Amino acid sequence: MRRTPGVRWVDGDAGLDAAAVAAAFPAPAGAYLHVPFCERICPFCPYNKVPYRPERAATYFAALRREAGAYLDAGAGPFTSLYVGGGTPTLCLDLLEEIVAALPILGERAIEVLPAHATPAGVARLRQAGFDRVSLGVQSFDDRALHHLGRAGSGAENRAALEACRGKFDCLDVDLIFDTGFDDPGVFLADVEECCRAGVDQISTYPLMRFGYTPFGKARHAPRQEHDLLRRAADLAAGYGYGRSSVWGLRRRDSPGFSSITREFYLGLGAGAASFAGPYYLVNHFSPERYAAALAAGRLPIARTARLGRRAGAAYYLFWQAYAGGFHPARARALFPGAGGLVGAASGLARLLGWGERTAGGRVALTGRGLDRFHDLERWVTYRFIEPLWADMMAEHEAPRPPPAPSVE
Ligand SMILES: C[S@@+](CC[C@H](N)C(=O)[O-])C[C@H]1O[C@@H](n2cnc3c(N)ncnc32)[C@H](O)[C@@H]1O
Ligand code: SF4
Repeated sequence: MRRTPGVRWVDGDAGLDAAAVAAAFPAPAGAYLHVPFCERICPFCPYNKVPYRPERAATYFAALRREAGAYLDAGAGPFTSLYVGGGTPTLCLDLLEEIVAALPILGERAIEVLPAHATPAGVARLRQAGFDRVSLGVQSFDDRALHHLGRAGSGAENRAALEACRGKFDCLDVDLIFDTGFDDPGVFLADVEECCRAGVDQISTYPLMRFGYTPFGKARHAPRQEHDLLRRAADLAAGYGYGRSSVWGLRRRDSPGFSSITREFYLGLGAGAASFAGPYYLVNHFSPERYAAALAAGRLPIARTARLGRRAGAAYYLFWQAYAGGFHPARARALFPGAGGLVGAASGLARLLGWGERTAGGRVALTGRGLDRFHDLERWVTYRFIEPLWADMMAEHEAPRPPPAPSVE
């Protein structure tokens, strides 16, 4: 089995039960819920997903209810926020609505939306299900770029989806992919400008990540071109009142944001979901069948556990807070007592290198230079930590399936 370098993983739940996980969080957590089904698989996509079949989804959601119930019974929640990701969560809105209604959520309710599902009726359905922030997976408005990516849909469909979502949510985020190898950087800048003109709240720009296990393969990045394009995109968007809200995010100045991983702590529910609980990082089974089988057997569906210890926990925390624009050293020290030295070193080094600067309230905010360097760091983290872990976990989809879980409740 391939291992993530520098992190000691234990197979399974390392003896943790739901009460131990719920008690481990140093502060209130957000909830992340994963829906691992897609009708059509995009060749570039590294996320945990399998082909959608209604009966598969019904069994899966019964397991999700069990997992959520186990944590709630053990004292987890209320959650600061909800983020529903995938896969394609909008394939299963009826099932989703039921489980979301059972989760105690204090703040925002965000969901990833496939443009084909963002029709006026689909948008009304999302509002009715209680979602107030959406992220639209546009990738590009250019048909040639979409074709190059092997992405279904069209620029016209993406425009119609954007129009249907405009003004209907507290936050409308649009995902765009760049450095795809499609040889026309002007397309990405035109995509950014189109989002600005439409007045979306946030534009999430992702350089295409090449995971070796995807059919899209392991092509090379063009780091210089990525930096140049990001800078030009940020300059262009600034003219429309957008600032850089994270390493890859551009946000309209008065808008609320859309984010997933940058919650301080999160409890992950579903196949392939991860939890960051302070001293533990937990990863659920990727295979929906293995996930459901574990819950049917009365176990948590945790496939891998990393005991982080204070320093590694603080390092993980600081990394993702910095990715989102900055961190409060005092807050980090309070959350990770015993890691004060590391927090002090991180904020000192950030300022020494010109990556961070102190702002009001003692926050260390990333500078333009820091955001640029973090772009490279993020890519490094993706290939060094995330890809090996996900490649290892994706093997579950190839392994013989466990016996079917008992039928839906
Ligand atoms: C789970 S998908 C979004 C929901 C929905 N399934 C869709 O495709 O619209 C989340 C986002 O990840 C981004 N993404 C997918 N594969 C990527 C890759 N290889 N590199 C960078 N970003 C990627 C896309 O921008 C996509 O919108
Ligand atoms: S990009 Fe979205 S629709 Fe495409 S395979 Fe990934 S999760 Fe599914």
